[in-house]
Amino acid sequence: MLIHKTLGEFIVENQSDFPHAKGDLTALLSSIKLAAKIVNREINKAGLVDIRGASGIENIQGEEQQKLDKYANEVFKNALIARGEVCGIASEEEDHYVFFDNQNSRNANYVVLMDPLDGSSNIDVNVSVGTIFSIYRRISPVGGPVSMEDFLQVGRKQVAAGYVVYGSSTMLVYTTGNGVHGFTYDPSIGVFCLSHEAMTFPKSGKIYSINEGNYSKFPLGVKKYIKYCQEEDDATNRPYTSRYIGSLVSDFHRNLLKGGIYIYPQTAQAPKGKLRLLYECNPMAFLAEQAGALATDGYTPILDLKPTALHQRVPFFTGSVDMMDTVHQFMKEYK
Ligand code: AHG
Ligand code: MN
Ligand code: MN
Ligand code: MN
Repeated sequence: MLIHKTLGEFIVENQSDFPHAKGDLTALLSSIKLAAKIVNREINKAGLVDIRGASGIENIQGEEQQKLDKYANEVFKNALIARGEVCGIASEEEDHYVFFDNQNSRNANYVVLMDPLDGSSNIDVNVSVGTIFSIYRRISPVGGPVSMEDFLQVGRKQVAAGYVVYGSSTMLVYTTGNGVHGFTYDPSIGVFCLSHEAMTFPKSGKIYSINEGNYSKFPLGVKKYIKYCQEEDDATNRPYTSRYIGSLVSDFHRNLLKGGIYIYPQTAQAPKGKLRLLYECNPMAFLAEQAGALATDGYTPILDLKPTALHQRVPFFTGSVDMMDTVHQFMKEYK
């Protein structure tokens, strides 16, 4: 029987990835691992307990909060407070950033930004959902409160990022800037096991993922690109296949394994698109680049954008290099 390396072992072995960290980033990743296991347990029995459906509250972005959005937010927040490695968080489900005002946390070096439950509208129909996290070193002085500038750092400054996909099996995929590694959860022993070491996005792909129901509102470059994906051409292996789950984590994960492109563009009604720069696009962009793919707003690398607000949205294009090159040409040509 093959015994896999565990996530815990892998993190410790790779501690030297973080020149400034003395085990505190390792402990931080362990808190995320623990929270992921708890959320996974609840999601798996969501049909049996009263945890599906809307909470009756809107979050600050005007979305109807699901009960599991709130639950996952609390679990991750509490796990991060408990170990004292994080001085504050920002979350899709919190109006403002949260300062962990206790002795240990004040002295912590890191902030975490997260989308505690991604694709939460899919939970009621038993479709995969996820969690996305992004970690930065704080800018504010250690010992004091966190400040907005800790959270509005450019994406290139991330020290780690990752996601959990609660799918047909549950996986945790993360990077600390030294490649992308994936771990599959074995519920019988309660352990994430290394199953996908050094994951790379195929250079070209055949899958395009976009909510085509919004077609009429897309910018011309995106419309032309969709038509390009649908045209027949033997040389470029077209037409491509359309796949859209509606959970960014799951759509991204599939494209990472198979090769493909994911687009959530701006529209006339939503000129900044829908996805959040800090909780969704920056961490996915860090993973994409680490896996040899690209992530842009259609023109500029996501990781180079300077955030201006916590809940800021941004158009998001990410995937295999060849497909991204083509969509960039369309975006440039059809302004
Ligand atoms: P969240 O559930 O965290 O609010 O994110 C939902 C996002 C993302 O997961 C997904 O890709 C996208 O919304 C789907 O949006 P549409 O339903 O507009 O396609
Ligand atoms: Mn939401
Ligand atoms: Mn999301
Ligand atoms: Mn969410």
